[in-house]
Amino acid sequence: MIDFTGPVAVLSDVHGNLEALDAVLTDIRNTGVLDIVNLGDCVGYGPNPCECIDLLQASCRINLRGNHDYATLYRSDNFNPAAQAAILFVRQQLQPADNADAARRRWLFLQQLLPMYENADFEFMHGSPRRPITEYILPSDPLCDPFKIDDIFAAMGHRYAFVGHTHYAGVIEEHQESFVRPDELQGKYRLTEKRAIINVGSVGQPRDSDRRAAYVVIHRHQVEWRRVPYKVADTVAKIEAQNLLDDQLARRLLVGQ
Ligand SMILES: [Fe+2]
Repeated sequence: MIDFTGPVAVLSDVHGNLEALDAVLTDIRNTGVLDIVNLGDCVGYGPNPCECIDLLQASCRINLRGNHDYATLYRSDNFNPAAQAAILFVRQQLQPADNADAARRRWLFLQQLLPMYENADFEFMHGSPRRPITEYILPSDPLCDPFKIDDIFAAMGHRYAFVGHTHYAGVIEEHQESFVRPDELQGKYRLTEKRAIINVGSVGQPRDSDRRAAYVVIHRHQVEWRRVPYKVADTVAKIEAQNLLDDQLARRLLVGQ
């Protein structure tokens, strides 16, 4: 069980980006965090799935399943061509090559990822409380699809839900028709009696026009979004060197899209 009386980090959507994950784990070590929860999508898109799996397995108390983790194990035919090719790349990397034990451990890690985790006032999942692995809660939903948001809050068993999946950091409060970005809150969201869905953003492929890696730290009464610069050029060069990884996956890292 995680003790939420001390600071706990929540990260998501690493997507095989080792440079971003390394930078975030270094930042976490400097913040006095006791435990880390990973909301999934360890792999897909990025050039270092094996190394990221190893680091996440060693560093995180809880590892949850994302849709790319699922697709690696089972099927990716609902993905776009670049994402499908990236899943093929992940499967190739995860093949037992010179180290069959490490390969077996990594496949087992993906198989044993949990769909969600709940503790005290919190629940954690990749997508949404209604469909933990696959459903997107979009920044436009509170305004454009409020009934969807109402249904998702109805499916929420706790006061606060932490999600990733869209790669957009922000918060939606119950009965509010807005998605509030961290920069509108000076990077901090105060935990009150209001129910809320908090998106932690993405470590390895941010899409909110800020290319720095994103994650959150849960403190006793507030959530703090943190942004961490990393060596994007190194990740870009690695993606461009792999035939199965579309160059667009490299370009988007440079602009945080
Ligand atoms: Fe993702």
